[in-house]
Amino acid sequence: MPNVLFSLMLLGALCSHGHSMSREEKRKLKNQVVEMFDHAYKNYMDHAYPADELMPLTCRGRVRGLEPSRGDVDDALGKFSLTLIDTLDTLVLLNKTTEFEAAVRRVLSDVRLDNDIVVSVFETNIRVLGGLLGGHSMAVMLRDEGQHMQWYQDELLHMAKDLGLRLLPAFNTSSGLPYPRVNLKHGVRGPETRTGTETETCTACAGTIILEFAALSRFTGDPVFEAHARRAMDFLWEKRQRNSNLVGTTINIHSGEWVRRDSGVGAGIDSYYEYLLKAYVLLGDDQFLQRFNIHYASIMKYISQPPLLLDVHIHKPLLPARTWMDSLLAFFPGLQVLKGDIRPAIETHEMLYQVTKKHNFLPEAFTTDFRVHWAQHPLRPEFAESTYFLYKATGDAYYLEAGRTILDNLNRFARVPCGFAAMKDVRTGSHEDRMDSFFLAEMFKYLFLLFAEADDLLFDIEDYVFTTEAHLLPLSLSMAPQSSSVPSNRTVIVQPEVELDDFDWTCPNTRLLFTDPAFPNNLREPIRSAVDKSCPRPLPYRCVHKQASPGVASVVSTFPHGVVTAFREPGIGRPPLRAQDFMANNPEHLELLRRMGVSLIHLKDGRVQLVQHATQAVSAVAAEDGVRFMQEMMELSSQQQKEQLPPRAIQIVSHPFFGRVVLTAGPAQFGTDLSKSSTGVRGFVTVAEPYSGCSEITNAEYVRGHIALLQRGQCMFAEKARNIQKAGAIGGIVIDDNEGSSSDTAPLFQMAGDGRSTDDVTLPVLFLFHKEGKILLEALKEYREVEVLLSDKARDRATIFKGKPLPGSLIEGSVDVQEAEEGCLTEATTPTSSEPAGESQMSTVELDEAVAGEAAPSHEGVGPAGEDAGPAEKMSASEAEGGPAEAEAAAAQPDRSPEAKEKPEGGANSQSVDELLADWQEDLEAFKQMEKDEL
Ligand SMILES: *[C@@H]1O[C@H](CO)[C@@H](O)[C@H](O)[C@H]1NC(C)=O
Ligand SMILES: *[C@@H]1O[C@H](CO)[C@@H](O)[C@H](O)[C@H]1NC(C)=O
Ligand SMILES: *[C@@H]1O[C@H](CO)[C@@H](O)[C@H](O)[C@H]1NC(C)=O
Repeated sequence: MPNVLFSLMLLGALCSHGHSMSREEKRKLKNQVVEMFDHAYKNYMDHAYPADELMPLTCRGRVRGLEPSRGDVDDALGKFSLTLIDTLDTLVLLNKTTEFEAAVRRVLSDVRLDNDIVVSVFETNIRVLGGLLGGHSMAVMLRDEGQHMQWYQDELLHMAKDLGLRLLPAFNTSSGLPYPRVNLKHGVRGPETRTGTETETCTACAGTIILEFAALSRFTGDPVFEAHARRAMDFLWEKRQRNSNLVGTTINIHSGEWVRRDSGVGAGIDSYYEYLLKAYVLLGDDQFLQRFNIHYASIMKYISQPPLLLDVHIHKPLLPARTWMDSLLAFFPGLQVLKGDIRPAIETHEMLYQVTKKHNFLPEAFTTDFRVHWAQHPLRPEFAESTYFLYKATGDAYYLEAGRTILDNLNRFARVPCGFAAMKDVRTGSHEDRMDSFFLAEMFKYLFLLFAEADDLLFDIEDYVFTTEAHLLPLSLSMAPQSSSVPSNRTVIVQPEVELDDFDWTCPNTRLLFTDPAFPNNLREPIRSAVDKSCPRPLPYRCVHKQASPGVASVVSTFPHGVVTAFREPGIGRPPLRAQDFMANNPEHLELLRRMGVSLIHLKDGRVQLVQHATQAVSAVAAEDGVRFMQEMMELSSQQQKEQLPPRAIQIVSHPFFGRVVLTAGPAQFGTDLSKSSTGVRGFVTVAEPYSGCSEITNAEYVRGHIALLQRGQCMFAEKARNIQKAGAIGGIVIDDNEGSSSDTAPLFQMAGDGRSTDDVTLPVLFLFHKEGKILLEALKEYREVEVLLSDKARDRATIFKGKPLPGSLIEGSVDVQEAEEGCLTEATTPTSSEPAGESQMSTVELDEAVAGEAAPSHEGVGPAGEDAGPAEKMSASEAEGGPAEAEAAAAQPDRSPEAKEKPEGGANSQSVDELLADWQEDLEAFKQMEKDEL
């Protein structure tokens, strides 16, 4: 796949223009950052405090236990006013000292740290302990200046120590690696703790402790915290894979065995590397730099393929572990700047910038050919962070423009009346009722610093190091006495196989590196069109691997469950076996396959994988049949994937929403296809009578020309649609009758037809979960006239209100960013597999074993996507852009870096990242098997 990319690079336009931005322009943008911060902070304080987080769509606080559980994501919420604590040092950075003073007083009087609640050790450390320490650092700085905080007597530090002591029980393992969760009141052991049974944790979870714990030890003089954090770091270092010098993603906290052996720089590992380098910066301990450098050399050798960063297997670092990247790795260019390796930082950042321009935000994960893999975006700051560091390193105003893009997109697509809402799906622009605390802790710091001049700051930012949550710790801590119980041996690591040159011990001077101001631009230029010109592949190949032996390509495709029956038709019979007739448990079919050189590999999760070796067919003709059979299988899969509709958006466009609230809606398999409509369907909403819509509509005079609201249940979706259509409605919205259901927690829902032809239904119908439906019903109650836009993708507000002044908008004349899939270079998307590969061509196809004779459900409520799909669907989901199962994956994906171990509580439909990765694990095994077969 790099081949494709690099050939594309040559197509890059050769224009180059200088970038510059006036001081005045920067000042304006800086003020805009402050205005946006105020909007977010004020809404949190007014509507959510003392709750941990703001729910910006429903305009209230998120209190754990009162809202439906979102799984591990909720482990950050400890009923300790998380967002306020996380925001403390941001207030000082933005010169809001009065607000800071008030906020500190609130924390001291209101926040309790001894709740009987189970929290993530990692999240609590970086957000709350880090927040308290950052707040303390700022308070001390202000106190010393003699104007503000004169009353302050280290109260935040005392709270920090109290919290540190509550986290310590998690470290009571033989390895020294912490348990992932701790009960703030009861610790880890004992039934009352409701935790302590976990056996594994992610590398970042265990390796992102040292900055906060060392600062706590040095501020308080109590060495116990730093000692524990060092022990965990030492253990991880010992456990690195000795040949590749890489670490896996999750590790057994008792045995130290790697549980997941894939390795990258994003989710699950990211801040472990960050803390090695920053521990050196903060503590001045060479050992951390040595370790970082050794890891870094391996990352650059195996994982970094500028502009891409690709996960590999720690034991086989040349073997790719997945075909997609997660958005958390966007921090990495910033870390590379800190290390002084600016060239790959520029390249990777440019790639991320292109993806951002295409989708307005970085989707939570995207494939190596830049398709959306997980469509969610919880307003993560990592891209802004890297943008800031690159601007500092290069002084290139190009990065100011990148920052402006971030600001504009936040205002245009995420800003809601009550704060900023996370993106549920970057493709539709729909929102999620969520504003994470890191948005205030990090995003506004980096954006403010990007546009600020040195004299806009109350203190010298160079005197501080940023934690992974962007909390500020003073570098003066390195001078603090290191306690005797902390091992201070400075043994030099002897690693004969790793050559570290002098460069590893220096930071390059950017003035020497960039004597030519055009240099960064020259690095970026070739990548500029990589993302735009890269198109979705025409066939749903999950991955295309070119194997070592020349001329051999293997193709793996996946088959959603039920595919065979869905496409069964009377045998027109191309001999000897049609793909749609194939049943994996039919011995005759198996014999036919064998003759065609197709063999089956049974995967542990119940799927089978088909592999064709032309050379193993009984004859040349049989081999050809085999090739055709495999092709049919792939087409079948492709067709099936078209059946999976992407989510839709319902945008409330009337006063006072003005298009700012976008609800995630489920599509219908009948009626108007909104993805084919350039304008969507816009109209006022009316509640139908009867609300179920299951009989003739009695209030047709109100429904006519309107979009009818209907309640789920009692009859088929298509029947409801026919009834409102007859009454003259222009669209319909079916609202779930299950109290409390929400797109935040449930996978995407598709409305199926009624098993008969639905061609007579010509209006669009969308589905809303209960919670989103309630937002609409309440708006109707309050404002009576509520106008919505039904579409495949939220429209830019400037487009909705073309010509009219945009109420409350900060952006004038913004242009709708179209996701231009047209103009793709088709040749660039031709899969490697279609290269002529001669006799030894081998292709593999996977399908579900259960395909045999499964009836396709045709009644109402095809249900949450994936409900009727076997495990095979997961894998297709991971590649099929827009597939509903993808939304499912997104729902279960990691919240922050470490969530290698997501365990959604949602029951059978939920699919954890672990499971997804287990699937890839199967892949790897299958590939290994194929390699063996080849030999
Ligand atoms: C650590 O766990 C052991 C039980 O395995 C317990 O006896 C001991 O008291 C614990 N230590 C601390 C400091 O909590
Ligand atoms: C911070 O704000 C105060 C009052 O609003 C102002 O007087 C001062 O100049 C500001 N400081 C900086 C560094 O901008
Ligand atoms: C540090 O050095 C002392 C003596 O030089 C040794 O006993 C001790 O084991 C060393 N500690 C570590 C962590 O290497």
